[in-house]
Amino acid sequence: MDSLLVKGGVPLHGDVTISGAKNAALPIMAATLLTAEPCVIRRVPNLSDIRFMGQILTSLGADVRFDGNTVTIQAAKIKGVGDYELIRKMRGSICILGPLLGRLRKAIVSLPGGCVIGARPIDLHLKGMAALGAKIKIAEGYVHVNARKLKGADMFLGGRAGPTVLGTGNVIMAAVLAEGVTIIESAACEPEVTDLANFLNAMGAKISGMGGPTITITGVESLHGAEHEVIPDRIEAATFAIAAAATNGEVTLHGARMDHLHAVADKLREAGVVIERRGSAIKVKRGSCLKPVDVTTMPYSGFPTDVQAQIMALLTLAPGISIITERIFESRFMHVSELARLGADIAIEGPSAIIKGGKPLSGAPIMASDLRASAALVIAGLAARGATQVNRVYHIDRGYENIDGKLRKLGARVERVEGI
Ligand code: EPU
Repeated sequence: MDSLLVKGGVPLHGDVTISGAKNAALPIMAATLLTAEPCVIRRVPNLSDIRFMGQILTSLGADVRFDGNTVTIQAAKIKGVGDYELIRKMRGSICILGPLLGRLRKAIVSLPGGCVIGARPIDLHLKGMAALGAKIKIAEGYVHVNARKLKGADMFLGGRAGPTVLGTGNVIMAAVLAEGVTIIESAACEPEVTDLANFLNAMGAKISGMGGPTITITGVESLHGAEHEVIPDRIEAATFAIAAAATNGEVTLHGARMDHLHAVADKLREAGVVIERRGSAIKVKRGSCLKPVDVTTMPYSGFPTDVQAQIMALLTLAPGISIITERIFESRFMHVSELARLGADIAIEGPSAIIKGGKPLSGAPIMASDLRASAALVIAGLAARGATQVNRVYHIDRGYENIDGKLRKLGARVERVEGI
């Protein structure tokens, strides 16, 4: 397995262009199953998760062609049974369930398991589909959904940790071809859901209210092909901003959307980081010194759980005590023990991590456990003295396009070491 060898202590300087958002591109690719006509999606990041979604769509019968960051998909004739092994591997693949139900009125898809960051149930996805009239059965590891007719309905999709991002997307995709009006209360407000709804509207759907907690979908007879450009990845932008601050550098982010980054920018400013708009770009640099801050993860527009690990890496460098509370996923602290190997002082108490920051980090071999944890470990390695080898780097390749190349362009000493 490949690893990244990071030689720390070099401030990052220069310009970086932010790629398209993985978590918008995945459901948008799945949404192409709703029409037999070709769809062209641009600014699709070149990532293993994206190629994987391409394979899933191909296995369902779609024609999927990648050309750089553009993917053309035509699902002229598809089947409703997903390949068990393929789908089981990636949690995000659950978002084929809604479009298959919408188009074919039936789908059989393997249940995504839990993962290292938490249990990750799909009860809310199924609750929404049941409200539309689908019958649901779980047997032998598969979820079977089918409906003779899908009928618009009012539903509440809030759960224990608030709304569900993929669940909202899935139910929207089933409802666009239902008869009548569907109203989703406690819908996820994440920009990735809005981007999906915009793509569906370009395909002829009638969706309004996206970006807010009440989404209204008026069913239509059929959808047609469309072209779309995926929004920039706010999590990648936040990761580079934090890497710039952690290394005491100065980096300009191009293509990132400040309106998607308010919660992250607010916390970084509180921690002493300077963030300024420069035309369409965002400039980030460390202020005079880092300060401890408290962070609680929340659904959008709150602080994203997908940036929790990265800000923790930064706060290990801020003298004083910071408290990070994780409210979305119950076990998303796998990076804590690895950060400790670099010398960080972090204690976990229930859903909170208490960080006594300010001690310098020093390099060590460490292990990535999931996508965002790996990004945090790379940031810590960039800020540490000496060499840090981040093992199992395939996790980072799932969600960051060419991260080592982009970091090297900013002056980082990062090498990919091929493993066996
Ligand atoms: N939940 C339920 N029931 C459900 C669905 C979710 O209880 O039916 C709970 C979850 O257990 C969790 C909370 O609701 O506690 C939020 O989960 P959500 O459904 O919003 O997560 P998701 O849609 O499965 C997406 C992203 C994640 C990101 C979360 C939260 C994709 C492919 N994944 O997952 O991204 O952390 O939203 O913002 O869009 C990542 O990119 O590293 C990543 C994990």
